[in-house]
Amino acid sequence: MTQNQPSERITELRHLLATYSYHYHVLDSPTVDNSVYDSLYGELKKLEAKYPELVTSDSPTQRVGSELLGGFKKVTHSTRMLSLNDVFDQAEVEAWVKRIDKLLPGRTHEFFADIKMDGLACALIYEDGVLKQAITRGDSFIGEDVTANVRTIKNVPLRLVAAHKPIQRLQGDTLQNDMSKFLVGRTEIRGEIVMLKKDFAALNDQRKKAGLPLFANPRNLAAGTIRQLDPRLVAERPLSFRAYDLLRDNPRDIPTNSFAYEAIRALGIVANPQASTFTSLSSVMQFVHEWDTKRNVLPFNTDGLVIKVNNRAQYVELGIVGKQPRAAVAYKYAAEKATTVVKDIVISIGRTGAATPVAVFDPVVVAGTTVRHASLHNADEIARLDVRLGDTVVIFKAGDIIPQVESVVFELRPTNTKTVDYRQLLAEQYPELEFYRPEGDVVYRVKGADSDLMLKRGVQYYASKGALDIDTLGEKNVVMLVDAGLVKDLADIYTLTVDDLLKLDRFAGVSANKLIGAIADKKTPPLEKFILGLGIRHVGTQTAIDLANMFMTVDRLQQASIDQLEAVDGIGKVIAESIIAWFADPDNEGLIEKFARLGVKPFYQKKTGKLVGQNFVITGSLETLSRDEAADRIRSLGGTFQTAVAKDTTYLVAGGKVGASKLQKAESYGTKIINEQQFIKLIEGL
Ligand code: IVH
Repeated sequence: MTQNQPSERITELRHLLATYSYHYHVLDSPTVDNSVYDSLYGELKKLEAKYPELVTSDSPTQRVGSELLGGFKKVTHSTRMLSLNDVFDQAEVEAWVKRIDKLLPGRTHEFFADIKMDGLACALIYEDGVLKQAITRGDSFIGEDVTANVRTIKNVPLRLVAAHKPIQRLQGDTLQNDMSKFLVGRTEIRGEIVMLKKDFAALNDQRKKAGLPLFANPRNLAAGTIRQLDPRLVAERPLSFRAYDLLRDNPRDIPTNSFAYEAIRALGIVANPQASTFTSLSSVMQFVHEWDTKRNVLPFNTDGLVIKVNNRAQYVELGIVGKQPRAAVAYKYAAEKATTVVKDIVISIGRTGAATPVAVFDPVVVAGTTVRHASLHNADEIARLDVRLGDTVVIFKAGDIIPQVESVVFELRPTNTKTVDYRQLLAEQYPELEFYRPEGDVVYRVKGADSDLMLKRGVQYYASKGALDIDTLGEKNVVMLVDAGLVKDLADIYTLTVDDLLKLDRFAGVSANKLIGAIADKKTPPLEKFILGLGIRHVGTQTAIDLANMFMTVDRLQQASIDQLEAVDGIGKVIAESIIAWFADPDNEGLIEKFARLGVKPFYQKKTGKLVGQNFVITGSLETLSRDEAADRIRSLGGTFQTAVAKDTTYLVAGGKVGASKLQKAESYGTKIINEQQFIKLIEGL
């Protein structure tokens, strides 16, 4: 595979985005999901920010606002029709509030939030209560006069009516019930033109019956309809208007955004009933979460909420940066799909010996969580998707939980990629194992795998001296516990009770109590021992220590990307892949959760001791202690035990004569060569 150059990638992204955009805006027949477009657009923006010299004027990122098409009269807006900055999570909302607090020190402010409608913005201009003009947003300064079309929208009044409903909330305010002033002079009402979901469905139903092609989505149809040159055609399409803003020449007519909504309703125009005032950030966030889960019940499509400072004087005071006001943000709900690049395909071997391929990719946020890998299920699925290393893929969350690869964006495939040879992958990643594919099965399995045997070995390893060191949980006891069905995975040992054991022949009161006590004693193991105990392929004592030092919690290790793993000294591609594969296995994910549920809390202790930062290699055999003992001593003093001399090796301990090549290597790295006596001196501190 040849990784594309940034310039090449940028060109390809632009080309593809332009194609998607043409299908969406011109043909009214989108070929991909909006979130796929957004994700690729985001990648292009990031690349252009990194390589500003590559920005060209025809890049989709350089398009300002929506395009002004011909056919309609251009009208300059009384005040600009701005857009909003997007925020995606609570932290970003908090940062926004902090910025406001800084600009309005010591002043309290309320928030006003409404559902963000997915339609097209439009300004209705009333003179002395009569509809004079309807203008699209256009490029924010100048819009298009679509009055004739908007006049066909049934819920847009041609004449405003004062006080359909009195404004009661503003008690003590002189404006109470006094709507008449809005019928004098210029009143501008801004809002969104939408097609309600039920109207869209009914329209498509009719078209289906008539054998006509179906419309793609309500937003597109609304936008396309409003730009029709023939208002009779517009009248046949059921559009609706929902207001979100009210403007008067005298801004004091409208003290707050909540007042604006009340006034809009009193004038006979729809504003969302869900919109509300909030006094704290936490209540705003509650509203955000409430509508994230309930948004399906809304009559129109939404992709988030709009949150504003309620007081209009403060709103104005906060000012504008670029094209966005500081006093409002759009909270966008998480995209259900996103694109990313496949960096690797690793294979995980489950408890039963089944091999599962897992795609590893650049971390990407899908439906609100960061996703680093996704199961590809089996060889057939890899072939069906034709996914290759370096491919850009669309990720989605099945049932909103499990990330899946939906498809490959073939247009962005790098040159010289090869079809994945699954058998070859298996052979490369598991050279010591043999695989077979049972008749009629899509899954490859390890030959001779016996899940009970694998489990027994696993538990024994977890309890062994080097790992958790659980007293009396040796081979015989493990075999008995597994055979009795009391232990079905590693975590099950923490569920055992004395009564469970007493039912087995091998145990009496004393021995049962002893084992249960020994297991309970190891509920808060050192993190590195716990990592080692999991039995992840290629993760030995030193790697487990290095991982613990780097990530400090199981959770962070589990979340680590392949790049972060490879950044750990001594961890290369093979080990990193093996760790990713282990955590990608749903059984293991469940196991980690189960450990936590059962109160197993590995802890990390910062390295201390006089050998911190010093790396040791031992060659030959020592006379006074074994290699393992020497390694233990080094580690207990905070040092690192390495298996081969590397650039960062501090000491090479020579047990006997050192070979010429090793000597040369050590010398070239500046590694000190010491004998056993000097080593003992060093560790004993003499
Ligand atoms: S308030 C400065 N409220 O979303 C603009 N806008 O990205 C303040 N929109 O341009 C707009 N529903 O076209 C507001 N309830 C709502 C909205 C809403 C949809 C659109 C509007 C605006 C864009 C902001």
